[in-house]
Amino acid sequence: MWKPPERIRYRTQPGEWPSAAVAGASKLFVPLDYQALSLSARTWVPAMVPWRATESGFVTPDNLDWYERFAYGQPGALVVEATGIRDTASGPLLRISDDRFIPGLQTLVERVRAASNGQTRLLIQLIDFLTVRRRPEPEKFFARHLKITDRHRDALQADDWSEDRIRKALTDLELEELKTILSPREFDSLCFGYRERITDTHMAHIADLPESLPTLFADAARRAQTAGFDGVELHYAHAYTMASFLSATNNRQDGYGGPIENRIRLPLEVYTAVRKVVGKNFVVGCRFLTEDCIENGSSTDDSSFFAQQFATAGMDFVSTSRGGKFDDAKQPIIGDAVYPYTGPSGYECIPGYLSDAFGPFGRNFAATAKVRTAIRSIGFDTPVVVTGGIHDFQQAQTLLESGTADVIGLARHDWFFKLRTGRGDEIRVCEYTNYCEGLDRKHKQVTCQLWDRTDLDEPGITRSRDNRRRLVAPQWQSD
Ligand SMILES: Cc1cc2nc3c(=O)[nH]c(=O)nc-3n(C[C@H](O)[C@H](O)[C@H](O)COP(=O)(O)O)c2cc1C
Ligand code: SF4
Repeated sequence: MWKPPERIRYRTQPGEWPSAAVAGASKLFVPLDYQALSLSARTWVPAMVPWRATESGFVTPDNLDWYERFAYGQPGALVVEATGIRDTASGPLLRISDDRFIPGLQTLVERVRAASNGQTRLLIQLIDFLTVRRRPEPEKFFARHLKITDRHRDALQADDWSEDRIRKALTDLELEELKTILSPREFDSLCFGYRERITDTHMAHIADLPESLPTLFADAARRAQTAGFDGVELHYAHAYTMASFLSATNNRQDGYGGPIENRIRLPLEVYTAVRKVVGKNFVVGCRFLTEDCIENGSSTDDSSFFAQQFATAGMDFVSTSRGGKFDDAKQPIIGDAVYPYTGPSGYECIPGYLSDAFGPFGRNFAATAKVRTAIRSIGFDTPVVVTGGIHDFQQAQTLLESGTADVIGLARHDWFFKLRTGRGDEIRVCEYTNYCEGLDRKHKQVTCQLWDRTDLDEPGITRSRDNRRRLVAPQWQSD
C-alpha cells in the first residue's frame, strides 16, 4: 500500500464518549425517511468484500455469520459486499448473476433481519468489472500473449523473420528497449498484466457495454428484490466499469465518453433500467467518487454535477467514496494481479495511520459537503452517506450537524450499538493499520486485528483457512 512520503504517525483519539441519554438524543439516532429509504438511525455499514463466498459465487455459512455479526450492532443500513452481476467466474466474490444465487441470498436476508431485530435495512452492492489478468512471466508474455505487429517488425528490422524469431528476440531485450518497441498498452500489459479498459471499443463486448449493462444491472436488482433485500447500491465508484464511464479520463467516441453529459449517460441509463424493474418502493442509490484522485481524473465539479443528475433521476440516496483507481496502482509482482488500492488514489480511499499533514481522518468530508450542497441547491433532499476515517462521536455528530452528510458510514461491528447504549468506552477503535485491506489485497478472508486472535479456543467458532484467525468477532458482552 502506498503511503504519503511525510510518514506522519497518527493515533485515533476518540475523546469523550457520550452517555446513553446524550447519544440517544443525538442526530445519529434520528430516523431518516426519504422516498423508499427509511432508516431507524443515520448509521450505515458500507460494502466491504470479506472473501467468504464459494469459488463460484454462492453464499456460504461464513458469509451468513459475517453479516449476522454486523447486524447484531443494528446499524440503520448494512450494505452487502460488491456482488457480481455477470455470470463469469470471479473467485470467492458473491454473485447475483443468475437466479440460482437467489436462495443463498434469501438466507442471508433472513439472518440479518433476525439478528438486527428488523432494525437494519439491508442493501446489496451491484458491481460490474472488466477483465484483469495477472502480471505474466515475460517469457510467457512474449511466447503466448503478445500479438506480433508491423510495429515490432519495423523496430527490429525483421521483415523476413518468423514470428517465433521475433518473440525470442523480444524476450532477450531489456525493459528500456522494450519500452520503445512495444506500444504503451503492450508495455503496460507486460509490466502490470493485461487489463481491459472501457475505452477498448475495438472489442465488441466493450463497445456494447451501453447495450448490455442496463439489462445486467436490472436483472441483478430484480434478483435482489426477489431475495428480500430492501434495496440495491449501484457500484459507480473506484476502479470498476461504471466509475470508469463517469471518469474525466473516459474519452469514448460513441456518445458515452468525453463531455460530462456523455460520461453520465450510461450510469443514468443503468439507473433507469433498474428502477423500471424494481418500482419506486425498492431502495435504489449509488456509491460514487467525489474525486478520482488521479491525474486528469474527475474533480468535485464533476461529482457535484453527477450528484445533481442522480438526485434528479430519483435515486433514494448517494454514498460517497474517493480514489481507489488502477491508473496509479503499484506494479504487482509476477503472478499477482494489479490491485487498485495500492497507489496514492488507493490511499485516498482507504487511508492508513501513516499520513501527510492532513492526516487519515476525514479526507472526503469537504468534497462530500460540496456534493451535498450541490444536491440541495437544486431542491433535492437526497440523503448523502459519508464514509472514511470516522471513529469518534463528536466527529460523526459534527458531520451531521454541519450538513456535510445525512448518514454516517463506518465499516465496523458494534460501534453504533455501544455508542447508543452509553458504552462508548468499550469500543475498540480502529487503528487504521490497513491490516484488513492487506488481507483483501491477497484475496484472503478479511478479519480485523483487534479481534481475530481473541478466544481462539472458543467452541464452535470458524477459523480462517490458515487456521490462525477466527472469522467472526467475539460476541460483545457488556459488563
Ligand atoms: C477489506 C475491504 C473491502 C472493501 N470492499 C468494498 C466494496 O466491496 N465496495 C465498496 O464500495 N467499498 C469497499 N471498501 C471500502 C469501504 O467501504 C470504506 O469506504 C473504506 O474502508 C473506508 O471506510 P473506513 O474508514 O470506515 O474503513 C472496502 C474496504 C476494505 C478495507
Ligand atoms: S484491521 Fe481492524 S483496526 Fe486494522 S484497519 Fe482494519 S478495521 Fe481497523
